Amino acid sequence: MAKKLYIKTYGCQMNAYDSDRMADVLAAGGYEPCSNVEDADMVIVNTCHIREKASEKLYSDLGRLRLEKDAKARAGRRMLIGVAGCVAQADGEEILARAPYVDVVVGPQSYHQLPELVADVIATAKPQIALEFEEQAKFDLLPESTLRSDMAAFVSVQEGCDKFCTFCVVPYTRGAEYSRSVTTVLDEVKRLADRGAVEISLLGQNVNAYHGIAPDGSEWGLAKLIEAVANIHGIQRIRYTTSHPMDMQDDLIAAHGEIDALMPFLHLPIQSGSDAILKAMNRKHTASHYLNIVEKLRKVRPDIALSSDFIVGFPGESDADFEATLSLVETVEFAQAYSFKYSIRPGTPAGDYAAQIDEAVKEERLARLQDVIGTQQQRFNRRMVGTVQQVLLDKEGKRKGQCKGRSPYMQSVFVENAVHYRNSLVDVKIVAAYANSLLGEIVSADTQGENAAHGQARQKIHA
Ligand code: 5AD
Ligand code: SF4
Repeated sequence: MAKKLYIKTYGCQMNAYDSDRMADVLAAGGYEPCSNVEDADMVIVNTCHIREKASEKLYSDLGRLRLEKDAKARAGRRMLIGVAGCVAQADGEEILARAPYVDVVVGPQSYHQLPELVADVIATAKPQIALEFEEQAKFDLLPESTLRSDMAAFVSVQEGCDKFCTFCVVPYTRGAEYSRSVTTVLDEVKRLADRGAVEISLLGQNVNAYHGIAPDGSEWGLAKLIEAVANIHGIQRIRYTTSHPMDMQDDLIAAHGEIDALMPFLHLPIQSGSDAILKAMNRKHTASHYLNIVEKLRKVRPDIALSSDFIVGFPGESDADFEATLSLVETVEFAQAYSFKYSIRPGTPAGDYAAQIDEAVKEERLARLQDVIGTQQQRFNRRMVGTVQQVLLDKEGKRKGQCKGRSPYMQSVFVENAVHYRNSLVDVKIVAAYANSLLGEIVSADTQGENAAHGQARQKIHA
């Protein structure tokens, strides 16, 4: 009987993608996925270091898993516990010191070694650790994804980051920036398209820094890669995330106006609206540089929906610095955005800065910022009411018969009585807007992808 694997995933889409890949490599070792801890012979916690209290969350998860492991052991069944992701990379040995019942600690560069690590745990009865940054990129050692048959697929094209923002652990946990070759990316997209994928999200911590080697030896940037993906038969929607303003080259901006399949949505973190804080963050761009990019994007794609990340309470952030952030938000008018209170990541430069900000001040700033962003998001969502949007209805909703999917602008759209349209691209008339989602009704099925109603909707929004 196949052994069962349960993976609990925290964090970004990169981690979701990595979890699928871990499931793929372990499938070769006889593990099949299951959906709860009780059934599992192996549980992997795929951690994220970006959010607050990542380590505490991990250890409380591990405490619960230990109880399950002990209960299974009493019943004569063995359950392995693995820790993967950025906290595994950052904390390494410390995890085994604090939680000696963990069997495997594996960093993001080493997932291809999982079957071997599991075999070693069983053979030696000792925990195994794999954290090296290998010369050979992990992408090329992992098997093709075999588990996803979704219409929307993620393809990791780039990993790591060389930017060293002073608050961020990614350059330390994910290592130096690395791009997959053009051929491996396009081959993977072709296989996904053959299996029914119509939407491709290109992923990377710094995806627009992509610079993959093409078959003729030249280097391609993200814009060229997107163009080639758009030419693959069956691909109707392309997204990419996450981007850095300094890598928003003109050809990538132009692609937003030229490539129909490139969806009118961009997540472009700025972090702060104050130049002094941006400098202290080592972001390498100013607020006006960001506004200039926004202007260029809107010139080529007037309806583009913009999203961002903000950190409030970065060390030294004055009231005036924070007001500059609010004012930038007012100027840009975002469709959505994420905002976080600054929190120290051990080992990062900003953690040692003297002028750490009071928790109460951070709370208050976060609430004010989220209020402004929430208002903008609601405004953006309300503008959709009465328009027709093409929605990829690839998920079941909570209620019976309900389906959900994404609009071109990345909004969640719910449609009632839509089971017949599940797993298709359909034209949906938006009838109501909420803070975080839209409600729609089917207009007509459109699985061919030619997109008259989409164009119509774009005009309507800007009428
Ligand atoms: N404190 C708060 N937020 C952070 N982020 C990254 N590091 C920190 C930190 N130390 C946020 C940034 C980044 C997003 C993924 O997480 O806004 O863009
Ligand atoms: Fe972290 Fe992004 Fe800055 Fe890289 S660009 S250091 S991933 S915040």
